[in-house]
Amino acid sequence: MPKEPLILGIESSCDETAAAVVRGRVVLSSVVASQHELHQEYAGVVPEIASRAHAERLTPVVTAALARAGVRLADIGAAAVGHRPGLIGSLLVGVSAAKALAWSLGIPIVAVDHVHAHLFAGCMTFSTHQPGQHEPNVHEPAFPALGLVVSGGHTSLYLMRSSTNLTRLGATIDDAIGEAYDKLASMLGLGFPGGPLVDKLATTGNDRAVDFPVSRLAPGSLDFSFSGLKTAALYALQGVPQTRPPHPDRPRPPHVAPSAADLCASFQHAAVGAITLKLLRALDQHPACRSLLVGGGVSANSRLRAELATLARARGLDLRLPQMALCVDNAAMIAGLGAQLLASRSWASEDLGFPAVPTTSL
Ligand code: KG4
Ligand code: ZN
Repeated sequence: MPKEPLILGIESSCDETAAAVVRGRVVLSSVVASQHELHQEYAGVVPEIASRAHAERLTPVVTAALARAGVRLADIGAAAVGHRPGLIGSLLVGVSAAKALAWSLGIPIVAVDHVHAHLFAGCMTFSTHQPGQHEPNVHEPAFPALGLVVSGGHTSLYLMRSSTNLTRLGATIDDAIGEAYDKLASMLGLGFPGGPLVDKLATTGNDRAVDFPVSRLAPGSLDFSFSGLKTAALYALQGVPQTRPPHPDRPRPPHVAPSAADLCASFQHAAVGAITLKLLRALDQHPACRSLLVGGGVSANSRLRAELATLARARGLDLRLPQMALCVDNAAMIAGLGAQLLASRSWASEDLGFPAVPTTSL
């Protein structure tokens, strides 16, 4: 059987400039240049700063990915690029660079949906795998599967008939879960991105100290909502704003804020609870699902990982969680899904005219 081609992946949809070399599901190299230091003082990603930084960093990142994989540009068989969704200026940098490379090398190029690629991350493994490390199952997961993407920009549930055939069942109607984590961290002055810092602080707190709402939405809904939780966290910290002056005979007691650790633990309890609630609903509606594929930055969350493992065990699901390095934005997942897309098509490559698209796909 001929060896699968080496795929060079490029990702620049938000604030990570990334390149990777992948063969099938095996990651030979994955280089991510994060821009967190550039956006830290704004507690969020500034689009113009992000696209300028991508333009500066892309060539060194691609060069590093090739060097770490021990290959030359001439060895690359195809290019894959994240072309949607994301910040348009950021996407354009990666898409233009990938098209230029593919054209000059005369190789096929495939456009990959960033959100769908997050779902493929749990199906990949590193060629330099160390014994004792969490060893992901690199065999094809059983389909149909449920797909869950939890990140700074997305919170979506999918019904997956294969890695390349997906139907969206639900998505957030307001904030993404990672955005809510980042806002809580910003309220507490913890830093950016806040998810990992909230996760760490939560391990020392009481998760029942504050009774936060778990959003359900309409019965049977598979959509998510995190803006109410974000507001509830703000009120728990600062007190509920009062619209009327206090009664002269009944002065209001002073607001007592919970400790940062208790707030983080209680927030995490509610945020993860909202995810598992919708997963259970989705399983009731799609009982044929045999696997659960999860991806996105928040899939690095310790409590979410533990609760998903418990849920998967109870429901007999094959759970695919990405290795930590592949939870956040990276180009290995883009190249990995790109390889599947190339293999599943009767024709080899996209036309070079495909666009960068800021909006999310279904
Ligand atoms: O997938 P990603 O790199 O970017 C998007 O596509 O949005 O996800 C970044 C998000 C940030 O909101 C970050 O705070 C969150 O993932 N995150 C976490 C953890 N690690 C990263 N959230 C909760 N717990 C974590 N351990
Ligand atoms: Zn992402």
